[in-house]
Amino acid sequence: MASKRVQDIAKNLKELPKQYVQKESKRPIQTSPPSSPIPVVDLHLLSSSHEDEMKKEMERLRTALQTWGFFQAIGHGISSSLLDEVGQLARDFFNLPMEEKQRYSKIGIGGHEDGMEAYGNDIVYSEDQILNWNDRIYLLVTPEEERKLDRWPENPSTFRQILHEYSTKMKEVGDFLLKAMAKLLDLEENYFVSRFGEKATMFVRFNYYPPCSRPDLVLGLTPHSDGGGITILLQDNAVDGLEVLRDGEWVNVPAIPHALLVNLGDQMEITSNGIFKSPVHRAVTNSEKERISVAMFFSPDPKTEISPADELVDTMKSRLYKKVKAEDYIQIFLKNYAQGERTIDWAKV
Ligand code: OGA
Ligand code: NI
Repeated sequence: MASKRVQDIAKNLKELPKQYVQKESKRPIQTSPPSSPIPVVDLHLLSSSHEDEMKKEMERLRTALQTWGFFQAIGHGISSSLLDEVGQLARDFFNLPMEEKQRYSKIGIGGHEDGMEAYGNDIVYSEDQILNWNDRIYLLVTPEEERKLDRWPENPSTFRQILHEYSTKMKEVGDFLLKAMAKLLDLEENYFVSRFGEKATMFVRFNYYPPCSRPDLVLGLTPHSDGGGITILLQDNAVDGLEVLRDGEWVNVPAIPHALLVNLGDQMEITSNGIFKSPVHRAVTNSEKERISVAMFFSPDPKTEISPADELVDTMKSRLYKKVKAEDYIQIFLKNYAQGERTIDWAKV
């Protein structure tokens, strides 16, 4: 089942199509100002040669991962100009004529949906599925030899080159974070990097949220936690929309210019035996302004098994999650996601 691009619907909107209207209990209501602000972690300080400074920042990271599962990363070493270019790339791509964008759509030969990688929308599993007010282009960037370049836009002409450059830098940040997390858990520094494996994946998702005249009825993205390992999000520098669920309340996550928002996914919660949290979050829409974001998803090799680290299981702390193959987890995750359900509870022992 293919659905229409939301950008097209938004342009000619007379009446909101009913597939986009959220059930009453899920509709976005006024959010709370954070009771405590979203943690900010300076990645540069995490490897400071001043031990006190380094330890203090590591503790901030620990608190962030154990409570919010979310933090704003500054000092990440990616230049502001590259981040601006990536944001602009997203805008330029979505501003192309629909016909041009559809060249990269996932509708393959014979009209069948051909995998998830491409320009498009969520997979639609059933007639009654409520749809997100979001279009996106989703691409695998690592392992490099598995890239499907025919899906990588050639327009804007710099798309491939900038995405390649961004991915290379992001991989460094991702590996750095995995090492820091291993240290926090008293695991060998390369514990997560090796468990993710040589064929660890990185997928990028350029999100586009058109303006919506009824932001009170729709969601840009339904509440979910991410299914993989770590997500690093470049937010729109002008329009807010991301919200995180904290103690039962939705909290707006404002963008800090040139900071990167890091959140954990379910597979990190599982591997850390529940010590680190995979937070539930959603995106709301804006009545006047479009919004873009660029998410980079880091996940273990799909063929590996995900399970709590043995070192984190002992007589004091029992094993909280069962062993599951990463690719099986994702399949179940996608179906649950379409129904607005979480998957992590299914993985509990
Ligand atoms: C996601 C996501 C939030 C946003 O892509 O998984 O949560 O603000 N995105 O676009
Ligand atoms: Ni997400």
